Amino acid sequence: MDEAKGLQQFRTPGEMRMAVRAWQAAGLRVGLVPTMGALHAGHLSLVERIAEVVDRVIVSIFVNPTQFGPDEDFAAYPRPIARDLAALADQPADAVYLPDAATMYPEDFSTSVQVGTLGKILEGKFRPGHFEGVATVVTKLLGASRADVAIFGEKDYQQLVVIRRLVRDLDLGTEILAAPIVREPDGLALSSRNAYLDAQARAVAPALYRTLCALKKAAQSGGELRALEREGVRRLREAGFEAVDYCTFRDPETLQEISRLDRPARLLAVARLAGTRLLDNLEVVPIGGG
Ligand code: PAJ
Repeated sequence: MDEAKGLQQFRTPGEMRMAVRAWQAAGLRVGLVPTMGALHAGHLSLVERIAEVVDRVIVSIFVNPTQFGPDEDFAAYPRPIARDLAALADQPADAVYLPDAATMYPEDFSTSVQVGTLGKILEGKFRPGHFEGVATVVTKLLGASRADVAIFGEKDYQQLVVIRRLVRDLDLGTEILAAPIVREPDGLALSSRNAYLDAQARAVAPALYRTLCALKKAAQSGGELRALEREGVRRLREAGFEAVDYCTFRDPETLQEISRLDRPARLLAVARLAGTRLLDNLEVVPIGGG
């Protein structure tokens, strides 16, 4: 127990729900920060942000097997749990939820949540089944906690859109907050997977953000979007990325392609470096009232 740090630990949905019920009965609002651990400043920014609007904050840490494909990094994914708990001790967090895999997915587990087209495009195309895993685990986390509010990072922009849609479609009633991307000083978006980059790859990585910034500016100056997307792919390959899975201007809610920047859009890209897929995205607002 971490009473000294004031950080309660829950291992089962029942434990968490009992504590949440007591808080809510006392008139307190409860916030949930779902994570897979290996916490960095991006995760901690979510904790700080949600703490501003709720009275109690729960951080969940669970490396969710069902959102990883068979050839992905589930086994290698970092799990520095002692360091994570120490990091949370300095944060406005009240509790951590640390379920084990057997608690989350007993042998006869048989339900899954699908979000249709939204979960099948972009990331869903490159990671079949990924968003089904995310949607199912997030539904479980929201259900187990009955949190009033939950927060997600714009870093995983499609995930945020998928979760907003799921919460709306299933009437879950949880308020969903979004938090901006926290970046390294050179622009690279913080990610637990950045640890996989060696020095050479790490030097190439910031070109992703730089390229997106250049495309955003060009789009705002009236550049043709399809041509800019092709230009983005060319620049990323030239910078040293091995492959570009996509680089695309999309509607911020439907994630469908847009043809003109006549309203706010989202520019999303994924490029591969030393076998690691780096994700980034930017909001692109038309300039001059377009
Ligand atoms: P994870 O990758 O650990 O991310 C947890 C949350 O932190 C997500 O909402 C993610 O968007 C946010 N985040 C990560 N890097 C960030 C950054 N640089 N700036 C701001 N926010 C950042 O996303 C997941 O876990 C899982 O899919 C999960 C939702 C927990 C379901 O298993």
